[in-house]
Amino acid sequence: MYFTSCTQAIGGLLLLSATAPLVKGYPGGFSERGQATNRATADNANIRTADSAKLKTWWHSTGEINTKTPVKPGNVRQSHMYSIQVASASAATDFYDSFVYESIPRNGNGNICIPGKLDSVCNVDDQISIEADIGVDMAWTQYLSASDSIVRITRSDKGLVDPANVVIRPTTLGFKLQKDGNALLVAVPYNANGYRFSVEFRDNLWEYRNAQGGIDSHYVQNKNPKGLNYVSSYDNSMPVVGVEPLNALMVFVSPFPNKKYVPDIASSDTYHVTPGLITGLGDVTKSVVYFGPGVYWCTGSAHIILSKSVTWVYIAPGAYVKGAIQYESQSLDLRATGFGVLSGEQYVYQANTAQGYENVKSDGTSLKMWRGQAARGTQWTIHGLTTNAPPFNSMDFYGDDLGSFTVQASDYKQVGAFFGQTDGIQMYPGSHVRDVFYHVGDDAIKTYYSNVLCERMTVWKTNNAPIVQFGWYQRDVNNVTVDAVEVIHTRYISQAVLWPRALVASAASYIDQQSTSVADITKHLSNYKISNWRCEGICPALLGINPLQNIDTMTFSNIWIEKLSPETTQVGTSTFRAFTDSSHGNQAIALGNNSPNNLGLIIENFYVGNEHITFQADNWESNKAGHSVGRLNIDGSYWGRWTVR
Ligand SMILES: *[C@@H]1O[C@H](CO)[C@@H](O)[C@H](O)[C@H]1NC(C)=O
Repeated sequence: MYFTSCTQAIGGLLLLSATAPLVKGYPGGFSERGQATNRATADNANIRTADSAKLKTWWHSTGEINTKTPVKPGNVRQSHMYSIQVASASAATDFYDSFVYESIPRNGNGNICIPGKLDSVCNVDDQISIEADIGVDMAWTQYLSASDSIVRITRSDKGLVDPANVVIRPTTLGFKLQKDGNALLVAVPYNANGYRFSVEFRDNLWEYRNAQGGIDSHYVQNKNPKGLNYVSSYDNSMPVVGVEPLNALMVFVSPFPNKKYVPDIASSDTYHVTPGLITGLGDVTKSVVYFGPGVYWCTGSAHIILSKSVTWVYIAPGAYVKGAIQYESQSLDLRATGFGVLSGEQYVYQANTAQGYENVKSDGTSLKMWRGQAARGTQWTIHGLTTNAPPFNSMDFYGDDLGSFTVQASDYKQVGAFFGQTDGIQMYPGSHVRDVFYHVGDDAIKTYYSNVLCERMTVWKTNNAPIVQFGWYQRDVNNVTVDAVEVIHTRYISQAVLWPRALVASAASYIDQQSTSVADITKHLSNYKISNWRCEGICPALLGINPLQNIDTMTFSNIWIEKLSPETTQVGTSTFRAFTDSSHGNQAIALGNNSPNNLGLIIENFYVGNEHITFQADNWESNKAGHSVGRLNIDGSYWGRWTVR
């Protein structure tokens, strides 16, 4: 099993390990959402940030604590709940402030159709329901450290900071914790790949419950009588489908960047953007666009279309850019780096750039946070950045030959993805995506192309779509590895065999979703490896496959699921359906025709809780009364073509 524990002591501090097991969440004990609005931070004058070769933190003087409405364009939403300071472990009491950002569902806009018009309420389902009413939000901080460091966290609600009240996720990190007066100290060892972790206080956990059992439900809540789906009390028909902190806190720790991620800021080829309203980037004649520390915005009805000369966007630590970025360059080397934030908070859901940025879904023209029209053979590098509050799919490139477009993504973060249709970045052929955190509504890890390596992912899933998606279209895909994935939260409300919720799934045809005869038997998926996964808490099924092509050498190995979703929701039930190809005499797709021993699907070292799921243990079958721990429902026609061992 993939399970490591780091227990080293750091900086001489006697830190305790957060090893207490998960207890039931307490929906009580949280503070009422934001009394204060539009309050600037009171104590900017006392803020001290680090800016050495060893430690770098930053601050925004226009922080706005506001949990309810859009913040002013020049302000940055600041956590109403958490304050953070950081020290190097070698000077463990010399703390520096690190700004704690915050993202709230719908960015305080409500479910609106027209950017900036708070009364333009939409009847489009944005897949947010009770979240704003119960006071859900996500805070994060980011700093750079060249050595072991100590994170000091205080809570404005005076809640408990005892290590026994804290869980760090992924739980395998095993960071040492210590109480220091009213603060929690977290010891973070140096890591060349950085860390992306969640700090969770047990008295701040929320149990998401479905209105009833069954495969298609919605959340209920007992907190806000004026809010959506309120019930005065829960009963046994309302299963818990996920547990999350109400006030999430992510900490992103990065090593100092390699030179290839930092442009020459003093170069005459670097264009310095002036903080404030962003204008004129379509006329820039230089190749680097540099956003220095400060706040920048586009408004909700514009985005950044870079001129053809611009190949590199650098968003510095301490820069906060409200906008979305579109490349027009035909250079083969496109980059986006820095440790700043690109925030979609000014946009409405599905902002359609062809229709005044209003909420009208279009796969082609709804706004992507990252987009480009790329030349054949282009590589896009993204490093260090954080994308906040995407209004739609997070990234798509277009061009004559996406088969030769490739992505190098590392130390990348996505937060505040409360809207439903918010996915992970595309992994075009030859891509390497690693050390990424996704808070994500829709398909998180999209394996649509060959020769892709995706590794060291931390995923926080909301309520739509699987973690890995490889369906929608018939594809030829070979050589995909998705390794070392930590799923730290999921909260699914529904199951749908056509669009399965699962760790790994393929949706039915985008063109004809109901049909099972749209497979293409001339296409193949092969050498497809899912390895070393952990899913903490309540989790969806292992797999959900609507096969749109033949499948060979698909392996799942070393997969641990803490607990499957309640049985009545069927979210925990794996399905693998039989599909045929109506343009080839309705032949069935083949599983394992070109695999060793004709085993097209191998599941090995798959655990649910402590139980190893195997044929031998006879605990795999979904419809086996009494002992269906693995909950696999694999079409009988594949018998002999797969194994679980
Ligand atoms: C498989 O994909 C990985 C990741 O892109 C690549 O490094 C490797 O060379 C590929 N293997 C083959 C046989 O093409």
